[in-house]
Amino acid sequence: MRHFTSVKDVADVKALVASARELKASPNANREAGKHRTLGLLFFNPSLRTRLSTQKAAMNLGMDVMVMNLNQDGWSIEMEDGTVMNGSTQEHIKEAAGVISQYCDIIGLRTFPSLIDKEADYSDRVLHRFMAHATVPIISLESAIRHPLQSLADLITIEEQKTKVRPKVVLSWAPHPRALPQAVANSFAEWMRMADVDLVITNPEGFDLAPEFTEGIPVLHGQNEALHGADFVYVKNWSSFADYGRIGQGLDHWTMTPDKMALNASGKFMHCLPVRRNVVVADAVIDSPASLVLEQANNRTYAAQAVLLNLLRHG
Ligand code: CP
Repeated sequence: MRHFTSVKDVADVKALVASARELKASPNANREAGKHRTLGLLFFNPSLRTRLSTQKAAMNLGMDVMVMNLNQDGWSIEMEDGTVMNGSTQEHIKEAAGVISQYCDIIGLRTFPSLIDKEADYSDRVLHRFMAHATVPIISLESAIRHPLQSLADLITIEEQKTKVRPKVVLSWAPHPRALPQAVANSFAEWMRMADVDLVITNPEGFDLAPEFTEGIPVLHGQNEALHGADFVYVKNWSSFADYGRIGQGLDHWTMTPDKMALNASGKFMHCLPVRRNVVVADAVIDSPASLVLEQANNRTYAAQAVLLNLLRHG
């Protein structure tokens, strides 16, 4: 693996999941692998789980870690070539990425979408500008359109928890008061397509994900119909792709509630966190034994550790 920005970067998804599960069983077994190697974590946006779990993963491998909130602590970065930089930007991506590559052996980057300019967001411009000018492997810590470390952790969780060879997994849209990216849902669809699961997506009319991520996956606009017999119910809000960045109004009936979970009494609830309780999901669901949210968050460490170990060995 040269970079880790999508499932397409992974030659063998099953082997990566197996590696993560081995690392979970013996987190400190590879303390020498990252000795004298430095991970730089660059955040344009907030984070709790990604920031801490990726640091933890690196420390388990004996790596040194540097973290920087680029928006708050760095110079404002110019992404375009040939710009006369007499405006608000102070440092060009060519120098920024080149300099950081001298300090770090692997770079992790979080860069959210604008949710205004669909074309720029779906070209994953900031991520690709860093990849173009960095000289070391790049890990996506969530880009404008994908969150692959989350999806890997989700797949590990499903593999650990499943009670049948090919479970039914439902990705169910939820209400939210703010416009959120489509990245988690896009990535989840992309990774589930590579897994031994039957994935169904359910969302209101007008909230279909980008066709490049949902091709071949059933998309139902009736939530209860989709939820019938679900072994895993992955709940997530995303803003509209078609009417780019639009929030869903008057759709509170999409909140995940105990009666909907009861459409398969043994179904498990999943969410990437952070989550707005009693908007996205009822307390009675997230606090129930069916909730896997803490297991998912725990698996973020081993997902990141498997990716880092692969890049240390092969990047
Ligand atoms: N799930 C996730 O990526 O959490 P953070 O945004 O807190 O990192």
